[in-house]
Order: sequence, then structure tokens, then C-alpha cells
Amino acid sequence: MPTGRFITLEGGEGAGKSTQIAHLKDLLRQAGKSVVATREPGGAPGAEAIRELIVTGSIERWDAMAEALLMTAARRMHVEQRIRPALAQGHWVVCDRFSDSTMAYQGYAHGLGRDAIDSLQQLAIGDLKPDLTLILDVPVSVGLGRAAGRGDKEDRFERMGLDFHERLRQGYLEIARREPIRCAVIDATQAPELVATAIDRILADRLGVARA
Ligand code: TMP
Repeated sequence: MPTGRFITLEGGEGAGKSTQIAHLKDLLRQAGKSVVATREPGGAPGAEAIRELIVTGSIERWDAMAEALLMTAARRMHVEQRIRPALAQGHWVVCDRFSDSTMAYQGYAHGLGRDAIDSLQQLAIGDLKPDLTLILDVPVSVGLGRAAGRGDKEDRFERMGLDFHERLRQGYLEIARREPIRCAVIDATQAPELVATAIDRILADRLGVARA
């Protein structure tokens, strides 16, 4: 059985990832793929418990390194218990956030730097990388405006300052510049239908995915 493909969706707060994850699942299923959709932090029991600790409560609850370690501990369990087994069984795994989130949020926005995050990922999950990463890009003011409208209690990162969110956005753009074959940046200020059309095109061009 062929191994599956691993696709991740990334972006700052309010970029519209949830809508596009749903779209991506539909697209892949219509193309005849068996899809496992999951998210980070989370996606496995221990990782969901860590999620609750890290996305709620006061900003000072964790410092940058503690955040990076917790995110990476959650990822370790998710990869071992869910992602690697699903890929080995030939499923296409669609994941809402992955290691690029740790690079963008903890590495760039909090300033831990690329080397620290790369070393941590290597220790925890080895060389596992997505086959394709879609980065939804919106200006900070637009994203935070959308996110505030949701009234979500998982808002610990949303409450970090505007500077944090600007470094985060620039961090994602830098990640994409460094790995243009793996990453695609999509203008997510467009209407959701147009973002979805852009995703269809990228999946066709890069992974040969077409609706049956
Ligand atoms: P979500 O809102 O997209 O579900 O993600 C939860 C929050 O966790 C989001 O604000 C981004 C943050 N996060 C990190 O800071 N580092 C990480 O490695 C991951 C996976 C998420």
C-alpha cells in the first residue's frame, strides 16, 4: 500500500483555517483519497490535555521556552500515536497547524530563534515534514478583527500584542521563502470561495489531486 501524503494548514489568528480545512477534506475525498483530519496542539489524548493548558489562561502562565516544549511534547504524542500510523496505512493526513506554528509563534514571534526550534523538532519527531504546507496570509488587523468576533475562550495567543502578531506574520512569510517547494502562501483576505479555488489549484499542481 502506498504511504499517504501529509498536508498542513498554517496562519496567524483569524486567517480562516477552519473553513479551508473543511474544504480540503471535501476536495481530497472527492478525489478518492482516504482522509484523516486532525489538529495541533491536540489530535491525541495527551496532546489535547496539553492544549487545554496552553491556549487558555493568562499570557504569563508559560514563558516562550515552556510553550515550545509543551507544543513539542504534544506533537510527539500526536505524531507517534496518530500521524505516522495513518500515513503508513495510506491515509492522507490533513493537519490544522504543525511544526511551522512552533517556528512562527515561539521561534519568530517570541524570539527563541530558528536553531532552538529546529533542534527541538529534530529531537521530538526526527525528520518528519509535511509534503505540502498551505500558509493563509492576512494583515494582522484583519486577522485579529475576525478572531475577536469569534468570542473564543481559547484566546491566550490572540491577547498577545500587535508586535507579536506582526513578527508572527513575517515569520510565516520567511518560512515560505526558505522552503518554496513545500510551502505555498495564499492571500486569505480574499473571499473564502476564492481561497478554496487557490487551494484546489495548488493541490492539482503540486500533488496531482483532481476531483474524480
Ligand atoms: P488554533 O487557534 O489554530 O486552534 O491554535 C491554537 C493556538 O496555539 C494558536 O493561537 C497558535 C498556538 N500555537 C503555538 O503557539 N505553537 C504551536 O506550535 C501550535 C501548534 C499552536
